[in-house]
Amino acid sequence: MSQKPRAPLRARWDSRTAFLFAAIGSAVGLGNLWRFPYIAASNGGGAFLIPYFVALLTAGIPLLILEVGIGQRLQQGAPGALGRIGKGFEWVGWWALAVGSMISFYYAAVMAWSWDYLWFSLKALFCGTGVPWQQDAESFFTTFVLQKSAGPWEFGGLSWPVVIGLALTWVAVFLIIHRGLKVVSKVVMVTVPLPIILLVALLIRTIYLNGAEAGLAYYLTPRFEELLKPSVWLAAYGQVFFSLSLGFGIMIAYASYEPRRSDVNNDCLIVSFADAAISFFAGFVVFTTLGYLAMASAVPTTVPEVVGAGPGLTFITYPKAIALMPGAALVGALFFLALLTLGIDSLFSIVEAIITGIEDKWPIGRDKITAIFCAGGMLIGLLYATHAGYHWLGIVDGWMSDFGLAAVGLVECIIIGWFYKTGELRRWLNSVSEVHIGPWWEVCIKFITPAILVVVMTLTLLGLVGQMFDPEKPRLAILVGGLLSVVVIVVGVLVARISGEVVPPERPELPADGKDE
Ligand code: PHE
Repeated sequence: MSQKPRAPLRARWDSRTAFLFAAIGSAVGLGNLWRFPYIAASNGGGAFLIPYFVALLTAGIPLLILEVGIGQRLQQGAPGALGRIGKGFEWVGWWALAVGSMISFYYAAVMAWSWDYLWFSLKALFCGTGVPWQQDAESFFTTFVLQKSAGPWEFGGLSWPVVIGLALTWVAVFLIIHRGLKVVSKVVMVTVPLPIILLVALLIRTIYLNGAEAGLAYYLTPRFEELLKPSVWLAAYGQVFFSLSLGFGIMIAYASYEPRRSDVNNDCLIVSFADAAISFFAGFVVFTTLGYLAMASAVPTTVPEVVGAGPGLTFITYPKAIALMPGAALVGALFFLALLTLGIDSLFSIVEAIITGIEDKWPIGRDKITAIFCAGGMLIGLLYATHAGYHWLGIVDGWMSDFGLAAVGLVECIIIGWFYKTGELRRWLNSVSEVHIGPWWEVCIKFITPAILVVVMTLTLLGLVGQMFDPEKPRLAILVGGLLSVVVIVVGVLVARISGEVVPPERPELPADGKDE
């Protein structure tokens, strides 16, 4: 009988806590601090928690259990795992990773801005001067940091503050993940609790400010009538998917480094509720500050008036409020350090998913793959450091994280729901987990989640296509973003066709006694 050579043992997390922290670190990111509070406030205030939890239960948690479940059971990253479900499905995994890389390139740019603000806060703190955006926070961001041009085709030159921030970000990512899980396991022990501690410290500062109460009232007062609007539900589902980092193969890769018989269901519940709790908590920090800003502004303003959207909230409105507070430099340093530590583990989780996919297929060596990817990320990311970078960031974000994520999630549900024995998968999940999931989970994966994703995807696509007909919008650039959505699929298909020696997982099938590791 010929003995097949055994594949090398798969890398493992240091402990279950390390895995949990890494998964929470990926989920908890910039999305919790700037996206959730703003989305909640503008979609029903306190009443938004209802669609949010419905979205979490009907789509977020089922899909998370699915990703963690197949990663842990099949012991491969997204392309390998999907390829084992059906030979023809490997490309979907590469597609997910291609979408993820596009996101990582601009996520790094947002981190780059945060480095700049941290640097100037620290400088003000140590030199005892005021923060440089004291006079005009808007022009500090658009003129100094971004050097923003009038439109997406006016590239101008490079903005050096962004280039330096990008370099710092990619060097950090390289240093953290090039050695493998041992270092990552240690890093997440810092990057997950630290921002939470910083947010608590910030809240202690902001809750006593004048106007804090008005801000909280705006954030939390339920406006139940808004729940009748479909857009509020769409926002809830979009936020849940983005925040749990679903659809990019991250959770599949992370779980593939867990021993096969670890508790999936419990871990997924912990990750989802920790993520939701941190989002909800971050809202307190943001809205006490915005309430103060409304009160402290020279011209009388109301809270809704000071609520800016997206990046504007974090990089213009919030710094403006900080500048008005006593101890501005310290508060600024805490806030931007929180932002950086929130973002870094989300960013390296995307990169880790990609490295895992490549390592599973080709024996290239982690050092080399990580170096090439980070250098490539830096180079491509220079697009976001040009004067037109901000415009492109908005466009690529719309296509990739709103539309691309829903599209990948949908295909994933269909493949696993319809081509994999979900009944058997559920029984297996229950056999390793403390909390048992009922048949509702299969119903979600087969019908409910895909149906919701079709709706989310169609409405997002209609919105994006609608913009192409709006003369006010940069139509050509939006079209380029749409083409990028097609390019990532082509990349997925092509990479799947390159032949590779797929390294077999050390135990392809479960032993009959169900015990392993
Ligand atoms: N979950 C992260 C956040 O909330 C965002 C993210 C999306 C991270 C996709 C990785 C991949 O910021």
